[in-house]
Amino acid sequence: MAFSHDLLKDKTILVTGAGKGIGKACALLADACGANVIAVARTESDLVALKDESSERLSFWVGDVQDKALYEKIRALPFLHGLINNAGTNRVAPMQEQSDEHIDDILNLNIRSAYKVAQAAITPMLKSQAPSIVHMSSQMGFVGSPGRTLYCLSKHAIEGLTKAMAVELAPNNIRVNSVAPTFIKTPMTEPMLQEPAFAEMVMNNIPLQRLGSVEDVANACIFLLSELSMTTTGSCLKVDGGWTAH
Ligand SMILES: NC(=O)c1ccc[n+]([C@@H]2O[C@H](COP(=O)([O-])OP(=O)(O)OC[C@H]3O[C@@H](n4cnc5c(N)ncnc54)[C@H](OP(=O)(O)O)[C@@H]3O)[C@@H](O)[C@H]2O)c1
Repeated sequence: MAFSHDLLKDKTILVTGAGKGIGKACALLADACGANVIAVARTESDLVALKDESSERLSFWVGDVQDKALYEKIRALPFLHGLINNAGTNRVAPMQEQSDEHIDDILNLNIRSAYKVAQAAITPMLKSQAPSIVHMSSQMGFVGSPGRTLYCLSKHAIEGLTKAMAVELAPNNIRVNSVAPTFIKTPMTEPMLQEPAFAEMVMNNIPLQRLGSVEDVANACIFLLSELSMTTTGSCLKVDGGWTAH
């Protein structure tokens, strides 16, 4: 089961955090659907490995989503049909123990850089046909969870950003949606999921009784980038096995 190889043909799609995990799966699927993918991450070796698995259309930029130079590069693109605004991270600790450094890390990467990348993307999107932005949210953008208040704050902000951008940019025909995964096995979550008590807590909260895969998340992102979802904006597509439904 797969999308058509032509679904994103001739579309330029930028994916941040594309070197590993969910972002890498999104870049690979966009490539398989015919897009001209620009993959962004800081670790060049990850991007070289991604390039080896992709078509010749995929290019990469070694860069930091917190860097002004990246925003200028995005703004200077002649066209941009899609953005998967995915780079993000977590710092898990009880609220009373979160350091100022961790608070700044999460607010700067998960919120500020998501805003700045999306802001830069608007300029080339105004010159492009059927543009679409997908922000990477989380089920934690809808609920709370012990030790994750800081992360929940950042993903609730992404949900607010999604809705507000959708309303502000609708007159420009730019669609803006989010995808909210449950726990997915990636380099970010692998150490946590190796703890039996944590893994049990996760499965007890997922009515479907399955962890999501990076491909499940990529499928949702590609649908929202494509013209299969032309009337969908300001929405969240949850890939959470029902976590937030109970
Ligand atoms: N995994 C889950 O269970 C899960 C669940 C819900 C939501 N999410 C969200 O999904 C997104 C991706 O998560 P993941 O689990 O795939 O993470 P991951 O495995 O840690 O991969 C993150 C990717 O982002 C890149 N990145 C990190 N900081 C960056 C920066 N400042 N500039 C550019 N690239 C940067 C990393 O590469 P470099 O370090 O080389 O830059 C890496 O390629 C995040 O927004 C996360 O909050 C994940």
